[in-house]
Amino acid sequence: MSDDTPATRVVSAGRRPEWTAGIVNPPVWRASTHLYDSVADLRTAAGTDTHHRLFYGRRGAPTQWSLADALTELEPGAEGTFLYPSGVAAIAAALLSVLSPGDELLCVDSAYDPTRSLATGLLKRFGIATRFYDPLIGSGIAELFAPNTRAVMMESPGSLTFEVQDVPAICAAARARSIATLLDNTWATPLLFPAIERGVDLSILSCTKYVVGHSDAMLGSVTAAPGRFAKLRDTSFQLGQVASPDDCWLASRGLRTMAVRLRQHEAAALEVARWLEGRAEVARVLHPALPGCPGHETFVRDFAGSSGLFSFVLDGGDDRARAALIDGLRLFGIGYSWGGFESLAIPVDPARCRSATTPDFAGPFVRLHIGLEDPRDLIADLAAGLDRFAAARG
Ligand SMILES: Cc1ncc(COP(=O)(O)O)c(C=O)c1O
Repeated sequence: MSDDTPATRVVSAGRRPEWTAGIVNPPVWRASTHLYDSVADLRTAAGTDTHHRLFYGRRGAPTQWSLADALTELEPGAEGTFLYPSGVAAIAAALLSVLSPGDELLCVDSAYDPTRSLATGLLKRFGIATRFYDPLIGSGIAELFAPNTRAVMMESPGSLTFEVQDVPAICAAARARSIATLLDNTWATPLLFPAIERGVDLSILSCTKYVVGHSDAMLGSVTAAPGRFAKLRDTSFQLGQVASPDDCWLASRGLRTMAVRLRQHEAAALEVARWLEGRAEVARVLHPALPGCPGHETFVRDFAGSSGLFSFVLDGGDDRARAALIDGLRLFGIGYSWGGFESLAIPVDPARCRSATTPDFAGPFVRLHIGLEDPRDLIADLAAGLDRFAAARG
């Protein structure tokens, strides 16, 4: 791996002349059947490692391999990457690659809600128990380890409430007991938090967000530390996972501009977040780069920057007053997902997805994704929204 910065590497990562025939980005290789010259040829192929070799469509083709390799190159120290048709599919395969019946998973209490559902639904059904833990636990995680604890699931910052976890401390404690560590790194991407270098075994992205970057494709990835890739790949093959070449092509295209988009998301989101902090209608802003966010010191220590997603808590009011704010926004769409070029606003109720901790944030929550619009326009839109909120709150 070169010493170039991630912003430079992202421009050409994963490119191989034999896959591109000299053009800049690999084209879409759509394939199910691969034809062999003879029966002997087919038998030889079946008996060999099919990594980066055309074999059958489910094992991928250069469009998928190139994106997977690019994501591996962006994670210093990583062994390999497997791609999935969504971020949730990536989380499921990563967990299933390290857990077996009778094992216990420790899962952060601020995890993305579908991650919780997977743990309390499918994993439980197959005899895997889950205990949820405080996102700010740090090295204290060691006290939770039971003889059957086999994996720790992290997400930093956490969904909705944005607590920043001490990932290096948790990984060090887990490694000392040979417990696997998994991180949902979607918010930061490897550009802002090189997870494998910080000790994580399996680094997970919903590529649907910043990698694709244009809100038009679903995709997930898991990048594995040395020694973790073979099991991940075998599990994923057994699950029948394959990412569509068209979506991988869109993601490869998006990836090339990810560094510059992230810089813009960061600058605009910080401008909006700081402005919100000064408004009387706002009780608290939860943005990892601002001191009011739990785990902010860890963010300063570990992250190379921030992205465009954060929440704020309204001062009083109810669901109706919050809806008055959101419904009238001109520039913010109301919708799930994030990481595209457009701004989004949704009401969120984090207390509903907690079991081990109670967030001490009173008041209705709003989650914002700050897109690539001019932040001055976004602020004007939000100012009118807060006026509507104040009028509805009374
Ligand atoms: C933090 C986080 N992880 C994972 C996912 C799931 O990704 P996907 O929608 O690609 O399945 C999301 C989606 O919103 C998310 O916010």
